Amino acid sequence: MCSEGARRRPLDWDAATYDRVADPQESWAREIIARMQLRGAETVLDAGCGSGRVTRLLLEALPHGRVLAVDASPAMVAAARAALEGEIRRGALSVLEQDLLELSLGERVDAIFSCAVFHHIHDHDRLFARLHEALRPGGMLVAQCGGAGNVARFHAHAQAVAMREPFARHLAGMPAPWHYATPEETAQRLRAAGFDAISCWLEERPLRPAQLHDFVEKVCLNYHGERLRQRAGQEAGRRLAEQFTTAVIDAMGDRGLIDYVRLNIEASA
Ligand SMILES: C[S@@+](CC[C@H](N)C(=O)[O-])C[C@H]1O[C@@H](n2cnc3c(N)ncnc32)[C@H](O)[C@@H]1O
Repeated sequence: MCSEGARRRPLDWDAATYDRVADPQESWAREIIARMQLRGAETVLDAGCGSGRVTRLLLEALPHGRVLAVDASPAMVAAARAALEGEIRRGALSVLEQDLLELSLGERVDAIFSCAVFHHIHDHDRLFARLHEALRPGGMLVAQCGGAGNVARFHAHAQAVAMREPFARHLAGMPAPWHYATPEETAQRLRAAGFDAISCWLEERPLRPAQLHDFVEKVCLNYHGERLRQRAGQEAGRRLAEQFTTAVIDAMGDRGLIDYVRLNIEASA
């Protein structure tokens, strides 16, 4: 396991595949945006914007506002810039390649939105401190990420397959890439970072992704894929990642139901 607070380089993503398969993230994002109760003229940070698919929804809720979209993955940033070129041109959007742990916007925003990002970051104390600094006093953080118990059954299957050859020689000892926090520890960390009016809760959201193989390979097992490519070489690693995905889906044995548990976060700066 990575220890709390351990720093590692954020992963670069397969942005094109992500954009094609991210229907679940889009539906979660719609719910987060509805909870934000935007008036339409705010400046909002999209913390971990990905390919820009959910940034577009945020922009639709801000006809007179602006979005600062931040992501650490160069491929995601390039995809978001290409997809939302018109919004950038009309001055409604800036897409910045930054690690949220080093966030530096040069201005304070009215609100922060984030969908499916925080569990990729281990140091939540530092993350929340950076987000608090980025918000104007009274500004809202409204976010959702994987929470305690997220994909536990799915990962038990993945772990069991990872112990078998030909995967074990590459995947044995792989540190857990995710940080699935409880609402209680999250509330405590938000308070320590200076937030108040804090509300955090878990929600079970099991789902079957439509494009199961690509979704599992590029969204659920992308860290495994990267490690396989690093250890076995690009081409052999790519083939192994495909085989690994197929073996994990076979092991799931229930037509691909993934046991998502979401952590919802609301807090005021
Ligand atoms: C599952 S995607 C979600 C993307 C988008 N929010 C959505 O809902 O479609 C997770 C995103 O978090 C980004 N991310 C992970 N760690 C990050 C960090 N430390 N700083 C900035 N972005 C990060 C990844 O690059 C990736 O684009």
